[in-house]
Amino acid sequence: MSDTPRPTKLIVALDTQDTAQARQWATGLAGHVDMIKLGLEFAYAAGFDAVSDVAGTQPLFLDLKLHDIPNTVASAVRSLSRLRPRLLTLHASGGRAMMQAARAACDEAFPADARPQLLAVTVLTSLDDAGLAETGVQGGARDQVLRLGALAMDSGMDGLVCSAHELAPLRQELGRAPVLVTPGIRPAGSDQGDQKRIMTPAQARDAGADWIVVGRPITRAADPAAAAAAIAAELAG
Ligand code: C5P
Repeated sequence: MSDTPRPTKLIVALDTQDTAQARQWATGLAGHVDMIKLGLEFAYAAGFDAVSDVAGTQPLFLDLKLHDIPNTVASAVRSLSRLRPRLLTLHASGGRAMMQAARAACDEAFPADARPQLLAVTVLTSLDDAGLAETGVQGGARDQVLRLGALAMDSGMDGLVCSAHELAPLRQELGRAPVLVTPGIRPAGSDQGDQKRIMTPAQARDAGADWIVVGRPITRAADPAAAAAAIAAELAG
């Protein structure tokens, strides 16, 4: 893997239960974003045919955060192969065997030129040190993020989902190899919503993000395509 930084690209999160709304966003944003993200909310509400329909020919980030025994996660990866995702998430806390099973299923179920990148979620950003301790994890979130990040990469994952503030420590520990995907991004001057520890697109790019995930600052904008174009321009600037 080269040490040359990769250009940071833009994913839009289409968080809705409404198929017509998701389709309208996806159509309007085609050509203005690099990928669309559909996750648990939309898939459970609208079903996987709707996921396929909304994604159409656009690259799809399927954010389903798989977490089960290795055999079941492997089967899930095979089942999802018909959707041809480009990025697919699972929980690193499922452990080495679960991630290795997902890797093997992915390599087997997808043709080499259409294989998704498997991304591990380390510690949910909704968990602070006290919340983690209640689950039996001592030593704090930062340590656990680095521990699970290293385990994920050692278990064949392509990258990690991480908060903007974890980018620099993960790059320092793991180098350029992991694909790092970062939500919690807010363009300067935009409404923070419920996101607390935010960065601007340019700050996340400079901290080492390969992909930024932006939802409401695009989908709730008066002109979503213009909002996406402005973020893409900031990333390229
Ligand atoms: O609207 P907003 O830009 O906050 O959306 C961010 C997206 O990234 C949502 O789909 C959210 O679920 C997801 N996400 C997040 N923070 C994390 C992990 C995922 O905001 N720590």
